Amino acid sequence: MYILGIDVGTGGTRALVIDERGKLVASATEEHRAFASPQIGWAEQDPADWWRATGLAVRKALSSADLAGDSIACVGLSGQMHGAVMLDAAGDVVRPALIWCDVRTEKQSNDIHAKIGKSQVIQLTCNPALPNFTLTKLLWVRENEPENWKRVRSVMLPKDYVRFRLSGERAIDVADASGTLMLDVAKRRWSREVLNALEIDASLLPKLYESPDVCGRISGEGAAATGLNAGTPVVAGAGDQAAGAVGLGIVAPGTVSATIGTSGVVFASTDRPALDPKGRLHTFCHAVPGRWHVMGVTQAAGLSLRWLRDLFGESSLDGADPYERMTAEAAKTPAGSDGVLWAPYLMGERAPHLDPNARGALLGLAASHNRGHVVRAVLEGVAFSLKDSLSILEEMGVPAQKIRLGGGGARSPLWRQIQANAYGSEVEIPRTEEGAAYGAAILAGVGVGIWPSVDAACSAVVEIAHRVATRADGVAIMKTRYSEYKKIYPALKSIFN
Ligand code: XUL
Repeated sequence: MYILGIDVGTGGTRALVIDERGKLVASATEEHRAFASPQIGWAEQDPADWWRATGLAVRKALSSADLAGDSIACVGLSGQMHGAVMLDAAGDVVRPALIWCDVRTEKQSNDIHAKIGKSQVIQLTCNPALPNFTLTKLLWVRENEPENWKRVRSVMLPKDYVRFRLSGERAIDVADASGTLMLDVAKRRWSREVLNALEIDASLLPKLYESPDVCGRISGEGAAATGLNAGTPVVAGAGDQAAGAVGLGIVAPGTVSATIGTSGVVFASTDRPALDPKGRLHTFCHAVPGRWHVMGVTQAAGLSLRWLRDLFGESSLDGADPYERMTAEAAKTPAGSDGVLWAPYLMGERAPHLDPNARGALLGLAASHNRGHVVRAVLEGVAFSLKDSLSILEEMGVPAQKIRLGGGGARSPLWRQIQANAYGSEVEIPRTEEGAAYGAAILAGVGVGIWPSVDAACSAVVEIAHRVATRADGVAIMKTRYSEYKKIYPALKSIFN
């Protein structure tokens, strides 16, 4: 019996098949078109492109392992969080989706606080209003595009649009719903109070489930697009961060991960909704029933490196991978980048500054610096930004005995070592580092009873392949550089604004 996980990311959609022991059998990724950013701070994608990519990625994954649709026992979904997909009465997309890193909605965030009161918003949803959250995006469309808003009959998140096309169901899990600012996170139900106060009709929203619950079956349209069998069950799944945490085994309270994808996330599992009184970390439902998590988000983590690659990392004639060439240059540069610092605020910042107007900064340059210094400074700056979130966890008294790495930051040996030294802690690298799609597949396996619970599944399948120890000299340099890094934002804030 095989199970399929699908992760509708920002850069692409990944489909992955595992067997009953959690072993990877096949995977395929289909890239998306880059998000459109028609104005600074805006980010839009066409949901039809996610659907196109899903069909191709699932077909490629199945055919690469010679699997027929009927060998898949269940499907789990995961995806980029917070995006606002709006459909009309016929189920057609009304306008491009405003995605997670779109931060045009500072005004709407302030309006929510003015209307309900900031402390009341935190009381009702466990989080303050932030421009990333779905509700602010809906209010922007209502205010700025009333003609479009009039046509909206249902609202969903990116992976739930793919679910809708796969199964015809309008459904969502509590983990992804937590990032809408419309969920009562503590009670795991839509917040009537928030919806009423902002005059959002509850009938626009999908039905809520826990992540491992089966909430639909592949339809004829879904089968035709993907090669799956009609009738295959689909579980609710989770937003990419909660699903990724399941894939890394971050399920028991006290376990913590640091994942670098397009965004960067420090994620800690908790047995209660733990709050950061300053709202710098998000408090969301976990993909494990009865558990929550806190997470701090760096908006442009992997995106910082990709931005640098796209601008300066052109492929060489020998066909070498530009990322490998860049990190090889960085590896020749000493820890601390000889004084170069990077503040990764390319898309504003969430933790710890909560400032959509923050902007990236490269500091401390001298004529003696070369490309390796700049690349290393970017890798270090991203690690410092995640360190900011780890420091907030410490302030909140959320334990972090061990830090497990995920995403691109776990694959690069240089970035692993930089992270261990910056965090001042040994880091663990799981054997199968397959991201959110892997977690979604585990949730699907729990949904059809391969494992009795998410905890049991993680103990059965997640193994640690490597541990990276800190290096005393590196830790000392990173500590000094981090204290300098922390001064960048306060020093530049007035320029950003
Ligand atoms: C999490 C977040 C991002 C997206 C990226 O809050 O906004 O991690 O989910 O895919």
